[in-house]
Amino acid sequence: MSDEQHRRPHGHSSHDPNHVHNFDHMASSLLSEERRSWQDPERIFDSVGIPDSGVMVDIGCGPGFFTVPAAARCRGTVIGMDASPHLLSICRSRLDVAGCSNAELVLMDAGNSIPLAGESAELVLIANVLHDMTSPPALLAEVARILKPGGRLVNIDWSRDDSEFGPPQEIRLSADESSSMMLSAGLRIESTLDAGPYHYCQVARK
Ligand SMILES: C[S@@+](CC[C@H](N)C(=O)[O-])C[C@H]1O[C@@H](n2cnc3c(N)ncnc32)[C@H](O)[C@@H]1O
Repeated sequence: MSDEQHRRPHGHSSHDPNHVHNFDHMASSLLSEERRSWQDPERIFDSVGIPDSGVMVDIGCGPGFFTVPAAARCRGTVIGMDASPHLLSICRSRLDVAGCSNAELVLMDAGNSIPLAGESAELVLIANVLHDMTSPPALLAEVARILKPGGRLVNIDWSRDDSEFGPPQEIRLSADESSSMMLSAGLRIESTLDAGPYHYCQVARK
C-alpha cells in the first residue's frame, strides 16, 4: 500500500482504476468500522427520512455503505449505480447477505449521464462523489431530470476544512459551490443535516 493510500483512506479515487486490488482496498476503507464511528448511515437516514415507496437512487454507491441500509429500511426500490463493476459486485453480495431483494444495481459509464427515465425517482443520494465527477453541474442536471417534481436530492460531501484523510483539498467542493450548482440545476436546498465531522450534508428539493 502506498503512502498516498495511507494518507487518503475512505475511498478517495486516487487509485489506479484498473487494479482490482485497489478497489478491494477502497471497499474495505469505505466499509470500515472506523468510518462508521464518525459517519453513521442509519443516523443520517433517520434524519433524511427514506420514502416508504417508489424509487431511491444511490449514485456512485460503491460497495454499498449507504445502499444496503437504505434497502433494508425501505419498502420501495433502491437503485445503486456505480462506474466500477467490482464495487457493484461487492455491493450485490452485501445486499444478498442482508436479504434485500428490493435493490437493483446498474453500471454507469464514467460520464455524467444517469441511465434512468425522467421523473422516476423520489430520492437521489450522492455521497462522496460530486467532487469527483468530470462535470458536477452536468450530473446535477441529470439528477434534476430523473427526480419527480417535489423529489429530493441528498448530497453528502467532504467539507473544505483540513483533515488528515479524504480527497485533496484542491478538488473538494465547498458547500456554497455545491449549493449554487444545485440551484442552477433547479434544485433548491431545504435543509442541511449532520453527516459527521468531516462532511456537509445538503437536502435539496426539485
Ligand atoms: C468515494 S466512493 C463513495 C462510495 C459511496 N457513495 C460511499 O459514500 O461509501 C466514490 C464512488 O463513486 C464512483 N464513481 C466515480 N466516478 C463515477 C462516475 N462518473 N459515475 C459513477 N460512479 C462513479 C466510484 O467508483 C466510487 O465507488
